[in-house]
Amino acid sequence: MTESRIQPSAEEAARQEYFMQEARKETEAVSRKLGRPLTCCIHTFGCQMNARDSEKLLGILERIGFQETEDENADFVLYNTCTVRENANLKVYGRLGYLNTLKKKNPHMLIALCGCMMQEPQVVEKIRKSYRFVDIVFGTHNIFKLAELICRRLREKTMVVDIWEGTDQIVEDLPAERKYPFKSGVNIMFGCNNFCSYCIVPYVRGRERSRRPEDILAEVKRLAEDGVVEVMLLGQNVNSYGKTLEHPMTFAQLLRRVNEIPGIQRIRFMTSHPKDLSEELIQAMADCKKVCRHLHLPLQSGSSRILKAMNRRYTKEQYLELTERIRAAVPDISLTTDIIVGFPGETEEDFQETLDVVRRVRYDSAFTFLYSRRTGTPAAVMENQVPEDVMKDRFDRLLAEVQRISSEVCGRDVHTVQKVLAEEPDTHLEGYLTGRMDNNTVVHFPGKKEWIGNILDVYLDESRGFYYMGHVQDRQGEDA
Ligand code: SAH
Ligand code: SF4
Ligand code: F3S
Repeated sequence: MTESRIQPSAEEAARQEYFMQEARKETEAVSRKLGRPLTCCIHTFGCQMNARDSEKLLGILERIGFQETEDENADFVLYNTCTVRENANLKVYGRLGYLNTLKKKNPHMLIALCGCMMQEPQVVEKIRKSYRFVDIVFGTHNIFKLAELICRRLREKTMVVDIWEGTDQIVEDLPAERKYPFKSGVNIMFGCNNFCSYCIVPYVRGRERSRRPEDILAEVKRLAEDGVVEVMLLGQNVNSYGKTLEHPMTFAQLLRRVNEIPGIQRIRFMTSHPKDLSEELIQAMADCKKVCRHLHLPLQSGSSRILKAMNRRYTKEQYLELTERIRAAVPDISLTTDIIVGFPGETEEDFQETLDVVRRVRYDSAFTFLYSRRTGTPAAVMENQVPEDVMKDRFDRLLAEVQRISSEVCGRDVHTVQKVLAEEPDTHLEGYLTGRMDNNTVVHFPGKKEWIGNILDVYLDESRGFYYMGHVQDRQGEDA
């Protein structure tokens, strides 16, 4: 089941174009027979990397002739899975049972699974044995092959499984269908070489590979010409971008180049590893006007002893010092983070160190996670796994502290006018829009759908802890 062909990317893109045409003939035939267009539904679990992959997968499916729907009762259902924590896996198994009942009613239905979970051999074994109604299984390294796999499935009439253990191939120039017309993720690198001892990502996403800067810049330019105003540069550790390129380039240099692209108004990036965050990057963030005043800087733990066991390669003091330098260079920056509680061997004292960092840094928000044991990672076989009740108790105390601080911190811009990118209709309030400030804080304000995709001046009337209620300042010629 392992394949590791290395082909020039242009050649592979052309090959896939052929399969998209072939698959299209099939879908057109079925669609004529049914007298309706065929539909597809993609469900994405996990991080921004998966979200971007799903846009590429949707691009391919639309080229084949499927129309997107939110409804899982579709002709093609694809789950793009995540395996970073056990509960992500459980969700997928749970939903598969439901898909099976839908498939029994629609014989044309194809079910496909891809993403990080599928890179685990024991998962694929389980699917083969217990979920035989699944049609196509593929992994994280070969998403560009979707059309080819669909053609194979239609020919072979049995489950098609194609998982690559790794790749050094980056296929450019495939279609992608953006979820939002005005903002887009842009992969700048794939994989991860850090091997934090709890984390499964390096095993399922493979070794670190950077895209060539000219390919990234060309993509951002194309996006800008197509109406995109905000890009999010994506990688598991963007701070080590470019190290493996033929002509090495730093992430800070790349950021400065993206900052020059006309039409782009906001630049975000995810994720930054503290050990690789350079002075050069801090300077670039301070200099580049389009780079958002927001930095997601995963802490994981505040205890230097636990950080060492996690293989994070920084200490509590180094992390704190780094946040001080960032705040000195970009004073109004908002800092957010990821924290794991209950890593093997974590004591109450270690946990107190984490709380201490949370209190000192005063994050705008923090994603907090219960440690989840991932098979194959060094931490999974460590002694002193923390009992669940202890872990949960710490989790609750951490969450309360994080929320208390963020409700104090997030309101700091109340009664000022801020630039807000209008993103979507408010899901709770009729006639309102939801948007984001440059520092990523959410704002709800009365507005028209036509404003979506524009950056507006919004007065922040009221802080409600994690978000604001506001109203748009005069827009010329329109009654705001
Ligand atoms: N590359 C990013 C993180 C990707 S995973 C980085 O290094 O910051 C997103 C988050 O999931 C991590 O930051 C971590 O907090 C959490 N996570 C990863 N593995 C985990 C595990 N085994 N248990 C609990 N949380 C985990
Ligand atoms: Fe996982 Fe660490 Fe890589 Fe992030 S940097 S993806 S936490 S191994
Ligand atoms: Fe999950 Fe894979 Fe992202 S494991 S967090 S979807 S890289």
